Amino acid sequence: MIEYRDIHKAYDAPVLSGVSLRVDPGECISIVGPSGTGKSVLLKTTNGLLRPDQGDVFIEGESVFGSGRRTLERIRRKVGYVFQYAALFDSMSVYENVCHGLPEEEARRRSPEVLRRVCEALEDVNLEPAQILNDLPAKLSGGMRKRVGLARAIVGRPRIVLYDEPVTGLDPVNSAVVSLLITEIQERLKVTSVVVTHDIEQALGISQRISLLDRGKLRFVGTPGEFRESQDPVVRAFANRQAAADMAVKIMEEP
Ligand SMILES: Nc1ncnc2c1ncn2[C@@H]1O[C@H](COP(=O)(O)OP(=O)(O)OP(=O)(O)O)[C@@H](O)[C@H]1O
Ligand SMILES: [Mg+2]
Repeated sequence: MIEYRDIHKAYDAPVLSGVSLRVDPGECISIVGPSGTGKSVLLKTTNGLLRPDQGDVFIEGESVFGSGRRTLERIRRKVGYVFQYAALFDSMSVYENVCHGLPEEEARRRSPEVLRRVCEALEDVNLEPAQILNDLPAKLSGGMRKRVGLARAIVGRPRIVLYDEPVTGLDPVNSAVVSLLITEIQERLKVTSVVVTHDIEQALGISQRISLLDRGKLRFVGTPGEFRESQDPVVRAFANRQAAADMAVKIMEEP
């Protein structure tokens, strides 16, 4: 479904130095790794939001960076994107925000059909359209804003959904809700999902495979079981550091 082929990207320093990965149709794969390792950069190459210095991405066999504008537009329609920090437009209503997930000419039409699709997408993420359609994002809780971001990503009925840190900043209950939604969306809408997260527990819970990005390369790719059993010191160090960080948060949250 998706193939990342030898992706290189450098800014002041190298960020990605030869990342290759194939994602199967219907699969949910997580990309984990410490902050600043290039997870968001890699995700943005998927639909051509960011051009790598070298390498290419293929969506159902079609080149993202070797194709013309028309083909790229068609490829982009297959891909929904849930941005880090929800990234809603503050001055626009929930309805207008979700509309932004539709191809431009459709979104502009404002037909009953568009309204129906927006409502359906909101229902898909367990939001009640009638209650929030005209609200501004500021009126919503953090968890609801994330769900509106999800609705915007799926309103165009994509084949692939990319999630950048979907649970970061949410409390445990809302994290669990969003994790469940990702699994539901994957199964019900039959999409392929790529989830970038530094929450290893979420990654282990929702994905068929996990990959660990470390110093520009994929250090590990395998099932959650293989991740837990991996003896690779880098994998263990990441898993343990994450466990320690989670413990620290729990202690701080205790009354
Ligand atoms: N537009 C840019 N200009 C310059 N440097 C950039 C740009 N985008 C990303 N970088 C650099 O690339 C590196 C990887 O960034 P990226 O946002 O992909 O990290 P990340 O793994 O998603 O981190 P986080 O977990 O904090 O979201 C960082 O060092 C960052 O400073
Ligand atoms: Mg990021």
